[in-house]
Amino acid sequence: MNYHLILLLAAAGSTLTQAQTPVPANDQPLPDRQAQLPATAKVAGEQYLTPRPMSAIPDNAFGDKVLLGYRLFANTQQLRDKYVGNELNCINCHMDSGRKANAAPMWAAYFAYPAYRKKNDKVNSFEERVQGCFNYSMNGQAPASGSPELVALSAYAYWLGMSGLMDEYGVQGEVPELTDAQLLAGGKSEDFPVPDAIKAALTVEQRAALPGRGFPKIAEPEQAYDPARGKLVYQAHCQTCHGADGQGQQMGGVYNLPPLWGPQSFNWGAGMHRVNTAAYFIYENMPLGKSIQLTNQQAWDVAAYIDSQKRPQDPRFNGDVQKTKAQYHQHDGYYGDAPNGINLGQDAYPNFPKRQ
Ligand code: HEC
Ligand code: HEC
Repeated sequence: MNYHLILLLAAAGSTLTQAQTPVPANDQPLPDRQAQLPATAKVAGEQYLTPRPMSAIPDNAFGDKVLLGYRLFANTQQLRDKYVGNELNCINCHMDSGRKANAAPMWAAYFAYPAYRKKNDKVNSFEERVQGCFNYSMNGQAPASGSPELVALSAYAYWLGMSGLMDEYGVQGEVPELTDAQLLAGGKSEDFPVPDAIKAALTVEQRAALPGRGFPKIAEPEQAYDPARGKLVYQAHCQTCHGADGQGQQMGGVYNLPPLWGPQSFNWGAGMHRVNTAAYFIYENMPLGKSIQLTNQQAWDVAAYIDSQKRPQDPRFNGDVQKTKAQYHQHDGYYGDAPNGINLGQDAYPNFPKRQ
């Protein structure tokens, strides 16, 4: 079906089933789960937690959940068409399989949930935050609450974090096993089971703000960020890997270099579409293998270039670009603007398309 037709039907309140329409009906908006993380600048000499190696995952039922979580995290494409609607894997942004400090590592994320969200006066659990990345970063449809995939991804994040904390504070033995409900909630609560030595060393708040969480904030650009300048940075430092057209590179249908925009990349609800978030990520982590080489200005400009390209619709789109923009896009981004002559909210790729 023609995408514009889908938009028209959705706007007219059509009763298409979910499988047919990528645009959710007006009365059931997707929860806003892509809250900006509290970005802070990097502190010189900071030490980061080191999770145990994969070989330390125990050979038992609990270890199997952790291992499944790792496999889903590294090869999220096995969930293509079921929960994933683009060519990305979690590791493309949460690098080194979610272990890399300053690339939103899972070991730090785990202890930051459940998190209170002032905006909707709601508490978001760890599984809900993961669901957010499925809906937006993966342009998909998140697994249902409590599903085995969410349990496994939570178990993996917990195991990374807890094994790191135990080694840091001299606690011997295996990582304590938790129930599925505990795993899904996340590790930020007074009654979350934590070995005494760790409890004595860190408050719940400190545990929720481990150094290396998220992407470190960089200074504001000296000149307002500019996609045209960013294009030059892109051509010089990025396109050999990500392609002149930003579509990444694949061999035999498997992407080894991820797409940065277009139908196979993250959608307009994803955190990476915000210019500041992308600039922080890029400055710290790109170009791969040669990071922290761009100037702040280059990082902002190239982030603006990438984030001013056409990508899949914001799944919270309610049929009215300006309303969607007003409701969800009060930040650094181009949704609903027309930096290249086309309105990036109106002219967008579909949500959760099936692989051809
Ligand atoms: C396109 C990049 C991208 C992909 C792919 C991606 N994420 Fe994320 N994720 C982000 C960004 C960006 C943030 C942080 C948003 C911010 O800083 O505002 C984030 C945040 C998170 C957080 C919270 C981190 C914290 O410290 O609070 C979790 C958990 C998470 N993602 C899990 C996942 C999982 C699981 C997958 C795969 C199913 C995934 N992400 C895929 C970009 C991505
Ligand atoms: C040497 C190859 C290489 C270069 C050069 C490179 N990247 Fe990447 N980039 C990668 C790989 C590989 C990943 C996925 C990381 C992973 O899976 O560990 C990635 C991931 C990303 C992501 C997150 C995933 C996505 O698809 O959105 C962004 C954004 C990004 N790169 C931007 C840039 C920018 C901007 C530049 C230039 C300043 C750049 N990259 C240069 C290889 C490269």
